[in-house]
Amino acid sequence: DPAQPRASRQRFVADLSQCLFDFVVQLLPTVEELAVKEDVRKLLERLIRTIEPDSRLLSFGSTANGFSLRNSDMDLCCLIDSEERLSATDLVTMLGDLLERETKFHVKPLPHARIPIVKLSLDPSPALPLGIACDIGFENRLALENTRLLYCYAVIDPARVRTLVLFLKVWSKRRKINSPYKGTLSSYGYVLLVIYFLVHVKNPPVLPNLQQMPPMRPISHDDTHIGGYNTWFFDDVELLRQRWQSANTDSVGHLLIDFFKYFSRDFLYNTGVASIRAGLLKKESKGWQNDLDPARYKDARERNRFCIEDPLETDFNVARCVTSDGLYTIRGEFMRASRILSTRPERAIYAIAQLCE
Ligand code: CTP
Ligand code: MG
Repeated sequence: DPAQPRASRQRFVADLSQCLFDFVVQLLPTVEELAVKEDVRKLLERLIRTIEPDSRLLSFGSTANGFSLRNSDMDLCCLIDSEERLSATDLVTMLGDLLERETKFHVKPLPHARIPIVKLSLDPSPALPLGIACDIGFENRLALENTRLLYCYAVIDPARVRTLVLFLKVWSKRRKINSPYKGTLSSYGYVLLVIYFLVHVKNPPVLPNLQQMPPMRPISHDDTHIGGYNTWFFDDVELLRQRWQSANTDSVGHLLIDFFKYFSRDFLYNTGVASIRAGLLKKESKGWQNDLDPARYKDARERNRFCIEDPLETDFNVARCVTSDGLYTIRGEFMRASRILSTRPERAIYAIAQLCE
């Protein structure tokens, strides 16, 4: 009976969706953890204000974008509202000294890094059984905006978007392909791949393109540009939630299967750029081609194996740290995942366990 395998496949996909929800829910941060993190942010803000009275300390990254897992690190950004301010290098040095004196954090100031930051960590406690890791940077307004953009995407269709993204974050960490320092991709890169897939690959799309929607009221150039980059996107979350109704009804399980299939088989790694702003672009159109004369452009070649356009800082390739070995490993993992999900596993829960082995 040809209908039999189809029915059992459908049952598997439905089962997979349920298992993905259950799997992700148990990895969400606890209320307690979120409260401790907010306390830490307030404490640090109070201390920074003893050096720079007009400063604010804001969360970005996973603690603020809706894609946070239990024990994820804290990304904090210090904004200074006064005209006269210390250089980031001086601030990092002074703040490092202050935190060392006044708090229980382990402190590591990096005043001379390309982007000066203070790295902090806290030993485990009952509320935070794995301790806390936190980076404080300065004036990174683009990161605050791209965090807000991801947050808006997360709340439009949380059941599907959050589940997919959180699963991919866990999967990429367990499979050890989530280390920009070791030639693979950051969490931020994986989140962009998921959004790209839901906006531009799925047809009908699961998500709207927030950067291409018409604004509700006139917008001025100054309000929408940071450092020459256009940072405007449709951010009326309430309205989006009411108005956006995707014609795509695929379940999370179905979307995950298609995501792995697309990135193991169809995405044009050699010539394509994944852009959530503009869809699939050509590397040449951005000057990111990797077939340039290797003698003269070795650097460009290494940096542009895998191309993901930053949604706001559009001349920045978020996947520039992915090496040729790293890309080989990542693609191998996409293929492995695709294979596991397509070979009719007995139970979805075993498939998930095997995926994240
Ligand atoms: N970011 C960025 N450009 C990059 C990498 C990161 O602007 N090339 C900013 C983004 O605002 C991103 C934040 O730094 O949201 C944190 O990046 P990352 O740690 O990769 O993502 P998280 O969502 O915080 O994931 P994790 O929970 O793994 O820390
Ligand atoms: Mg982070």
